[in-house]
Amino acid sequence: MGSIEELPKLSGQSKCSYVYGSRFAARPLPSHQLPDGGMPKDVAYQLIKDDLTLDGQPILNLASFVTTYMEDEALKLLAESANKNIIDHEEYPKSVEIEHRCLNILADLFHSPVSDGAPTAFGTSCIGSSEAIMIATLAMKKRWEINRKAQGKDASNPNLIMSSGVQVCWEKAARYFDIAEKLVPCTETRYVIDPVQAVDMVDENTIGICAILGTTYTGQYEDVQAISELLIKKGLDTPIHVDAASGGFVAPFVNPDLVWDFKLPNVVSINVSGHKYGLVYPGIGWALWRSPEYLPEELVFNIDYLGAEQLNFTMNFSKPASHIIAQYYQLIRLGRSGYTSIMKNLTRTADYLTSQLREMGFVIMSEGGGRGLPVVAFRLGSTQNAFLDEWALARKLRERGWIVPAYTMAADCETMGMMRVVVRTDFSMGRCMSLVQDVRDSLGALAGLEIQNIQRYQA
Ligand SMILES: Cc1ncc(COP(=O)(O)O)c(C=O)c1O
Repeated sequence: MGSIEELPKLSGQSKCSYVYGSRFAARPLPSHQLPDGGMPKDVAYQLIKDDLTLDGQPILNLASFVTTYMEDEALKLLAESANKNIIDHEEYPKSVEIEHRCLNILADLFHSPVSDGAPTAFGTSCIGSSEAIMIATLAMKKRWEINRKAQGKDASNPNLIMSSGVQVCWEKAARYFDIAEKLVPCTETRYVIDPVQAVDMVDENTIGICAILGTTYTGQYEDVQAISELLIKKGLDTPIHVDAASGGFVAPFVNPDLVWDFKLPNVVSINVSGHKYGLVYPGIGWALWRSPEYLPEELVFNIDYLGAEQLNFTMNFSKPASHIIAQYYQLIRLGRSGYTSIMKNLTRTADYLTSQLREMGFVIMSEGGGRGLPVVAFRLGSTQNAFLDEWALARKLRERGWIVPAYTMAADCETMGMMRVVVRTDFSMGRCMSLVQDVRDSLGALAGLEIQNIQRYQA
């Protein structure tokens, strides 16, 4: 871009109150230095809003698991509580109580053991599942360390068992906290952890096994029950952490008989993203432990802040109460029946999309019928990939506004190209049908182009 000195000099514009007649509209927005003076609020608002129009449309972003629709009432609560810092327990006791209500509801939803009429599971809100996974991993590591030291054994080589298809936050957790990753490889036909291989990998340095309820790649549920049963059979008490980032708000409603949570004795902690199928805008996740013994005291800070003694076990300190309040709104606004209706609708839409893509010749990699997340993962079939690849199709769909990413599968089958549509609340059947038509048209257009190229080459 040319420098600002190269722009024509302005004259007579500074007094115009119309946004696009003002001197601010005749200059690029500040990018490097704090401007000396400010600008009127409506001008700042309009110019930033204009700048943002070059972003993709969230509702057409089928790449993301993150919520893109909330009701106006939820948005009002979100805005009205944005100026409350949830860490100020003394000042905002009601917000703190609402956080506890959410945690109790989740503990119950995830079948926490009960003692004296109350769930033993407890936890905390986080910024997302990544933060929840960081603390849960630290808790597993610390607990293992304490046990090893109590037995007079070496505690310098912890390892964590997980599938090679884990979300990147698991690799981060392992690297940040000096834990060796023991990866159970995915294969070209199995995109989830193999329970037998996972349990066979357990050794005295294993701090835990991660099992994913809804993998990022294909949305499939890993078999937590099989892992737990194999551990029990071998007499191992290795902890299992369930990464239920997406599935924690889907499986209990679509597949209530699936056994994956605190019902299993080895499941010691669970994370879930409120901002995925929990239906809140980005900025909220939850970490839950089976009971206090699974969160070592060393990780819990008893802080005296602004007049209140409080327990804290998150990575960051300040954050708005808003997303917690919005989560509570969704929980009581929808209830079990509301979440069930939504998640079943999404499952039906995902199944319809699956059937249409299969008809067009795509290979489907995800599970249908509610046996996994409402996510459709697919790749080109042998009749299609002669003339295009997944990236070309993704680019073509982008021309119509759809964001459907093409990417390679997890480690161990990373040569495999694939695409994924995350069916979210606002991806209703009508819009799904529009996408199906656009995929059909895009395939036709790309094939036509290829035929033209061949003819040109032959000529
Ligand atoms: C399985 C899984 N775990 C963890 C994460 C990270 O979640 P968050 O974005 O809430 O930090 C994701 C995100 O897509 C995920 O799919």
